[in-house]
Amino acid sequence: MRIDVFSLVPHAFAWMTEQRPLAAVLGTELELRLFSYRDSTPLRAGQVDDEPYGGGAGMVLRVDVVDAALTAAYGGRPPRRVVALSPQGRMLDQPLVEELAAEPHVALLSARFEGFDERIVEHLATDAVSIGPYVLSGGELPAMVLLDAVVRRLPGALGSAESAVVESFSAELERGLEYPHYTRPAEYRGWSVPDVLLSGNHARIEAWRRELSRARSLR
Ligand SMILES: C[S@@+](CC[C@H](N)C(=O)[O-])C[C@H]1O[C@@H](n2cnc3c(N)ncnc32)[C@H](O)[C@@H]1O
Repeated sequence: MRIDVFSLVPHAFAWMTEQRPLAAVLGTELELRLFSYRDSTPLRAGQVDDEPYGGGAGMVLRVDVVDAALTAAYGGRPPRRVVALSPQGRMLDQPLVEELAAEPHVALLSARFEGFDERIVEHLATDAVSIGPYVLSGGELPAMVLLDAVVRRLPGALGSAESAVVESFSAELERGLEYPHYTRPAEYRGWSVPDVLLSGNHARIEAWRRELSRARSLR
Protein backbone atom coordinates (compact mmCIF):
# COMPACT_ATOMS: atom_id res chain seq x y z
CA MET A 1 0.00 0.00 0.00
CA ARG A 2 1.12 3.54 -0.67
CA ILE A 3 0.11 6.45 1.58
CA ASP A 4 0.97 10.05 0.74
CA VAL A 5 0.57 12.76 3.37
CA PHE A 6 0.29 16.42 2.42
CA SER A 7 0.93 18.84 5.26
CA LEU A 8 2.62 22.04 6.35
CA VAL A 9 4.74 20.11 8.87
CA PRO A 10 5.72 16.82 7.21
CA HIS A 11 8.65 16.38 9.64
CA ALA A 12 6.08 15.89 12.43
CA PHE A 13 5.56 12.37 11.05
CA ALA A 14 9.22 11.33 11.45
CA TRP A 15 8.81 9.62 14.84
CA MET A 16 6.08 7.37 13.46
CA THR A 17 8.46 5.89 10.91
CA GLU A 18 10.69 4.65 13.76
CA GLN A 19 7.93 2.89 15.72
CA ARG A 20 5.67 -0.08 15.18
CA PRO A 21 3.38 -0.53 13.38
CA LEU A 22 4.77 1.77 10.71
CA ALA A 23 8.45 0.85 11.09
CA ALA A 24 7.62 -2.84 10.68
CA VAL A 25 6.12 -2.45 7.20
CA LEU A 26 7.90 0.60 5.82
CA GLY A 27 9.62 -0.34 2.57
CA THR A 28 7.76 -3.66 2.25
CA GLU A 29 3.97 -3.52 2.69
CA LEU A 30 3.96 0.26 2.95
CA GLU A 31 5.41 3.12 0.94
CA LEU A 32 4.97 6.40 2.82
CA ARG A 33 5.64 9.75 1.19
CA LEU A 34 5.48 13.08 3.02
CA PHE A 35 4.84 16.26 1.06
CA SER A 36 4.92 19.89 2.12
CA TYR A 37 2.48 22.24 0.38
CA ARG A 38 5.27 24.82 0.49
CA ASP A 39 7.51 22.78 -1.84
CA SER A 40 5.09 23.03 -4.77
CA THR A 41 3.18 26.23 -4.06
CA PRO A 42 2.82 28.44 -7.15
CA LEU A 43 2.82 31.51 -4.87
CA ARG A 44 5.78 33.58 -3.85
CA ALA A 45 7.72 33.15 -0.60
CA GLY A 46 6.15 29.77 0.19
CA GLN A 47 2.68 31.22 0.67
CA VAL A 48 -0.01 28.54 1.03
CA ASP A 49 -3.01 30.27 2.63
CA ASP A 50 -4.96 33.49 2.43
CA GLU A 51 -7.58 35.61 4.21
CA PRO A 52 -11.18 34.34 4.00
CA TYR A 53 -13.51 35.98 1.51
CA GLY A 54 -16.28 37.72 3.43
CA GLY A 55 -13.91 38.59 6.25
CA GLY A 56 -13.41 36.98 9.60
CA ALA A 57 -10.56 35.53 11.56
CA GLY A 58 -7.92 33.10 10.40
CA MET A 59 -6.23 31.96 7.24
CA VAL A 60 -7.60 29.46 4.73
CA LEU A 61 -5.56 26.86 2.81
CA ARG A 62 -5.74 27.83 -0.88
CA VAL A 63 -7.25 25.57 -3.54
CA ASP A 64 -4.57 26.42 -6.14
CA VAL A 65 -1.87 25.44 -3.63
CA VAL A 66 -3.38 22.04 -2.90
CA ASP A 67 -4.07 21.49 -6.62
CA ALA A 68 -0.42 22.26 -7.39
CA ALA A 69 0.73 19.83 -4.68
CA LEU A 70 -1.46 17.04 -6.09
CA THR A 71 -0.37 17.77 -9.66
CA ALA A 72 3.31 17.77 -8.66
CA ALA A 73 2.86 14.41 -6.93
CA TYR A 74 0.55 12.68 -9.43
CA GLY A 75 0.70 14.62 -12.69
CA GLY A 76 -3.08 14.60 -13.10
CA ARG A 77 -3.60 10.97 -11.98
CA PRO A 78 -4.38 11.17 -8.25
CA PRO A 79 -5.17 8.04 -6.21
CA ARG A 80 -8.74 6.77 -6.01
CA ARG A 81 -9.02 7.99 -2.40
CA VAL A 82 -7.91 11.52 -1.53
CA VAL A 83 -8.91 12.10 2.09
CA ALA A 84 -9.21 15.59 3.53
CA LEU A 85 -8.91 15.53 7.34
CA SER A 86 -11.68 17.76 8.62
CA PRO A 87 -13.76 17.99 11.80
CA GLN A 88 -16.75 18.25 9.46
CA GLY A 89 -16.06 14.91 7.73
CA ARG A 90 -17.37 11.37 8.13
CA MET A 91 -16.42 10.04 11.55
CA LEU A 92 -13.49 7.64 11.43
CA ASP A 93 -14.45 4.17 12.62
CA GLN A 94 -13.07 0.66 12.20
CA PRO A 95 -15.09 -0.19 9.05
CA LEU A 96 -13.75 2.98 7.39
CA VAL A 97 -10.21 2.11 8.55
CA GLU A 98 -10.56 -1.36 6.99
CA GLU A 99 -12.02 0.13 3.82
CA LEU A 100 -9.02 2.46 3.44
CA ALA A 101 -6.54 -0.28 4.35
CA ALA A 102 -7.86 -2.28 1.39
CA GLU A 103 -6.97 0.54 -1.03
CA PRO A 104 -3.68 0.33 -2.91
CA HIS A 105 -3.06 4.05 -2.65
CA VAL A 106 -4.44 6.79 -0.37
CA ALA A 107 -3.58 10.49 -0.11
CA LEU A 108 -4.18 12.40 3.14
CA LEU A 109 -4.64 16.17 3.06
CA SER A 110 -4.26 18.13 6.26
CA ALA A 111 -4.87 21.82 6.87
CA ARG A 112 -4.12 24.29 9.67
CA PHE A 113 -5.62 27.55 10.92
CA GLU A 114 -9.16 28.08 9.58
CA GLY A 115 -8.98 24.95 7.41
CA PHE A 116 -9.50 24.19 3.70
CA ASP A 117 -10.95 26.38 1.00
CA GLU A 118 -14.22 24.47 0.52
CA ARG A 119 -13.37 23.77 -3.15
CA ILE A 120 -10.56 21.47 -1.99
CA VAL A 121 -13.04 19.28 -0.14
CA GLU A 122 -15.60 19.48 -2.97
CA HIS A 123 -13.39 19.00 -6.01
CA LEU A 124 -9.93 17.71 -5.06
CA ALA A 125 -10.72 15.32 -2.22
CA THR A 126 -12.88 12.20 -2.55
CA ASP A 127 -13.57 11.92 1.19
CA ALA A 128 -13.62 14.18 4.24
CA VAL A 129 -12.81 12.34 7.47
CA SER A 130 -13.03 13.48 11.07
CA ILE A 131 -11.34 11.71 13.99
CA GLY A 132 -13.92 12.99 16.47
CA PRO A 133 -16.37 15.75 17.38
CA TYR A 134 -13.77 18.24 18.61
CA VAL A 135 -11.45 20.70 16.90
CA LEU A 136 -7.68 20.27 16.80
CA SER A 137 -5.23 22.90 15.60
CA GLY A 138 -4.14 21.01 12.52
CA GLY A 139 -4.69 17.91 10.42
CA GLU A 140 -1.36 16.31 11.34
CA LEU A 141 -2.58 14.51 14.47
CA PRO A 142 -5.75 13.30 12.68
CA ALA A 143 -3.58 12.10 9.77
CA MET A 144 -1.34 10.23 12.22
CA VAL A 145 -4.36 8.64 13.90
CA LEU A 146 -5.70 7.47 10.55
CA LEU A 147 -2.24 6.36 9.42
CA ASP A 148 -1.66 4.26 12.53
CA ALA A 149 -5.12 2.68 12.39
CA VAL A 150 -4.75 1.81 8.70
CA VAL A 151 -1.15 0.62 8.85
CA ARG A 152 -1.76 -1.80 11.73
CA ARG A 153 -4.12 -3.65 9.34
CA LEU A 154 -1.26 -4.39 6.93
CA PRO A 155 0.37 -7.85 6.99
CA GLY A 156 3.37 -7.94 9.32
CA ALA A 157 2.61 -4.60 10.97
CA LEU A 158 1.93 -6.08 14.38
CA GLY A 159 4.30 -8.22 16.37
CA SER A 160 3.25 -11.47 18.03
CA ALA A 161 2.34 -9.41 21.14
CA GLU A 162 -0.76 -8.00 19.42
CA SER A 163 -3.62 -9.11 17.21
CA ALA A 164 -5.71 -7.04 14.85
CA VAL A 165 -8.12 -9.92 14.20
CA VAL A 166 -9.74 -10.09 17.62
CA GLU A 167 -9.88 -6.63 19.14
CA SER A 168 -12.41 -3.92 19.89
CA PHE A 169 -14.57 -3.03 16.85
CA SER A 170 -13.33 -6.04 14.85
CA ALA A 171 -15.80 -8.07 12.79
CA GLU A 172 -14.66 -11.09 14.84
CA LEU A 173 -16.19 -9.45 17.96
CA GLU A 174 -19.29 -8.30 16.05
CA ARG A 175 -17.87 -4.72 16.06
CA GLY A 176 -18.21 -4.66 19.85
CA LEU A 177 -15.66 -4.16 22.62
CA GLU A 178 -12.96 -6.62 23.49
CA TYR A 179 -13.14 -8.77 26.63
CA PRO A 180 -10.87 -7.89 29.59
CA HIS A 181 -7.28 -9.11 29.83
CA TYR A 182 -5.30 -10.14 32.89
CA THR A 183 -1.69 -11.17 33.47
CA ARG A 184 0.51 -12.18 36.44
CA PRO A 185 0.25 -11.97 39.39
CA ALA A 186 -2.97 -13.98 39.75
CA GLU A 187 -3.63 -12.23 43.07
CA TYR A 188 -2.64 -8.64 43.90
CA ARG A 189 -3.77 -6.69 46.98
CA GLY A 190 -6.79 -8.99 47.16
CA TRP A 191 -7.72 -8.36 43.52
CA SER A 192 -7.88 -11.74 41.85
CA VAL A 193 -7.96 -12.87 38.26
CA PRO A 194 -11.27 -14.57 37.32
CA ASP A 195 -11.01 -18.32 38.06
CA VAL A 196 -12.10 -19.31 34.58
CA LEU A 197 -8.90 -17.85 33.10
CA LEU A 198 -6.80 -20.10 35.32
CA SER A 199 -8.86 -23.19 34.57
CA GLY A 200 -7.00 -24.27 31.43
CA ASN A 201 -10.40 -25.04 29.85
CA HIS A 202 -10.15 -23.26 26.50
CA ALA A 203 -13.77 -23.73 25.51
CA ARG A 204 -14.95 -22.18 28.81
CA ILE A 205 -12.44 -19.35 28.51
CA GLU A 206 -13.58 -18.59 24.96
CA ALA A 207 -17.27 -18.64 26.01
CA TRP A 208 -16.51 -16.36 29.00
CA ARG A 209 -14.61 -13.92 26.79
CA ARG A 210 -17.42 -13.76 24.20
CA GLU A 211 -19.97 -13.22 26.97
CA LEU A 212 -17.98 -10.35 28.52
CA SER A 213 -17.33 -8.80 25.13
CA ARG A 214 -21.07 -8.74 24.41
CA ALA A 215 -21.93 -7.45 27.90
CA ARG A 216 -19.49 -4.50 27.72
CA SER A 217 -20.60 -3.68 24.18
CA LEU A 218 -24.17 -3.21 25.44
CA ARG A 219 -23.15 -0.91 28.32
C1 LIG B 1 -8.58 24.54 13.50
S1 LIG B 1 -9.08 23.31 12.38
C2 LIG B 1 -10.27 24.14 11.38
C3 LIG B 1 -11.65 24.05 11.93
C4 LIG B 1 -12.70 24.65 11.02
N1 LIG B 1 -12.56 26.08 10.96
C5 LIG B 1 -14.09 24.31 11.56
O1 LIG B 1 -14.59 25.02 12.41
O2 LIG B 1 -14.66 23.28 11.13
C6 LIG B 1 -7.70 23.19 11.30
C7 LIG B 1 -7.52 21.85 10.62
O3 LIG B 1 -7.23 20.85 11.59
C8 LIG B 1 -7.73 19.59 11.13
N2 LIG B 1 -8.68 19.07 12.13
C9 LIG B 1 -9.04 19.70 13.27
N3 LIG B 1 -9.90 18.94 13.98
C10 LIG B 1 -10.07 17.80 13.29
C11 LIG B 1 -10.84 16.62 13.50
N4 LIG B 1 -11.61 16.47 14.58
N5 LIG B 1 -10.77 15.63 12.58
C12 LIG B 1 -10.01 15.78 11.47
N6 LIG B 1 -9.26 16.88 11.21
C13 LIG B 1 -9.30 17.89 12.10
C14 LIG B 1 -8.37 19.84 9.78
O4 LIG B 1 -7.41 19.54 8.75
C15 LIG B 1 -8.70 21.31 9.86
O5 LIG B 1 -8.84 21.90 8.58
